[in-house]
Formats: sequence, structure tokens, C-alpha cells
Amino acid sequence: MFRRIASRYDRMNRLMTFGLDLHWRRKAASFLRPLQPERLLDLAAGTGDFALAACQVLPSLKEVYLVDITPAMLARAPAKKPPQVVWHFQVADAHQLPFADSMMDAIVVGYGVRNFENRLQALMEMRRVLRPGGRAVILETGMPTQLLWKLPFWFYFRLYVPLLGALYARDKAAYTYLPESTRAFPHRDAFLQLALQAGFMRGSYVPLLGGASIIYLLDT
Ligand SMILES: C[S@@+](CC[C@H](N)C(=O)[O-])C[C@H]1O[C@@H](n2cnc3c(N)ncnc32)[C@H](O)[C@@H]1O
Repeated sequence: MFRRIASRYDRMNRLMTFGLDLHWRRKAASFLRPLQPERLLDLAAGTGDFALAACQVLPSLKEVYLVDITPAMLARAPAKKPPQVVWHFQVADAHQLPFADSMMDAIVVGYGVRNFENRLQALMEMRRVLRPGGRAVILETGMPTQLLWKLPFWFYFRLYVPLLGALYARDKAAYTYLPESTRAFPHRDAFLQLALQAGFMRGSYVPLLGGASIIYLLDT
């Protein structure tokens, strides 16, 4: 699916979120500032927008590892590399990361965890490659809980997004999968429980736009 939509993925994100996704990735990455990370893993990096956002807000960064299972998505990332940071590209599976224990200062995952087949296994891998005192920042789609926001959000997610996917990305199935996989995702406390089960010490979350997206912060 991601191979099919790779060439339109960035533009679809801008159209779907009215440009807010760029701001959300920068905001999410800024939660790593206190750690002053030098080595970052961008897991399920896709076209590299989260790695770029991290480089924009984290001056301490020296190298970023961009990992994704879909070569066609990753192929669009090198053009975004800022000059001051080294980017490494690796096609690999989140369930079996090709890195040594404790190698990373921090991890970001943008709209990726929802797609993993075995989230517990992937979280355990993230925990393994993070150094003690490290942090994973996970940005995911969410489901608003406030009654007044739920109805307009339903129209937006169940009608506007698939319609836009059909018209612009010419792939309605991919953009029907988005609301469906969001509905099936263990949100908020349920996700934090899974992270604790995977060995993270603590977790918290920050809802964005009434819960349309959520930033999860997981500490080792
Ligand atoms: C919605 S895109 C997110 C891309 C990017 N992180 C962003 O913020 O826009 C999800 C990405 O997850 C990748 N992905 C899905 N399953 C994966 C897995 N098991 N291991 C690594 N990457 C995976 C897909 O190839 C796709 O590029």
C-alpha cells in the first residue's frame, strides 16, 4: 500500500491536515530537547518528514537513522536531508531492528506504530535499542473524546479523507484503511499499558487538536 501511494504521500498529508502535520512533528520532536540527543532513530521513517522536523528543532543531533520497510517511501527522504546532520538509510522491519542494544539516544515514530503487525514486539525492539535514560516519541492518529468534536471529526475522517484519497491519491482503499486502522488502535492509556509491558519505565501522552493526533512519550 505504501509503495502505491509513495509519490503522493507528502501532498496528501498536507491536504488532509491543512498543513498541521508539519507542525505536529516539530512539536513532538521538541519533547526530546531535554535529552540533547546526538543519535536518533526515525522508525517507519517513510519520506523523512519526522527526521527533518527533528533536525529543525534539535540542534544537538549529529546523526539520524531512517528505517522503513518500504523502499519506495524511503527513496523520497534523501532530498530532505539538512547539511549539518548525517542521515543513514536502512530498509528494515520494526519487529527486528538491525541495531545493537542501547545504541540510540532517542527514537521518533510518526504514524507508523498503527501499521505494525505485532506492536508489543516492535515496542520491545525500540526499548532494546534505546539507551538507559532514552526516550521514544510516538506520533499517532487519535479518536477525539469530546462529544462536540466527535461528529465533525467522524465526517472528516470517514468521508473527507477517503474522498480526498480517491480524488487526489487515486487510492481510496489506502485512505479508507487510515480511519479503520485508527479505530482498531489501542489509544491513550491502552497504548501506554502496552509500552509498560514492553519494558518502558514510564509513559504519558499529549492530545493534539482535541485528540485528532496524539503524542506519546515513552521513557526507558
Ligand atoms: C503512514 S507512513 C509514516 C511515514 C512517516 N513516519 C511520517 O511521519 O509521515 C507509515 C510508514 O510505516 C512503514 N512501515 C509499516 N510497517 C513497517 C514495519 N514493520 N517496519 C518498518 N516500517 C514499517 C511504511 O512503509 C510507511 O512508510
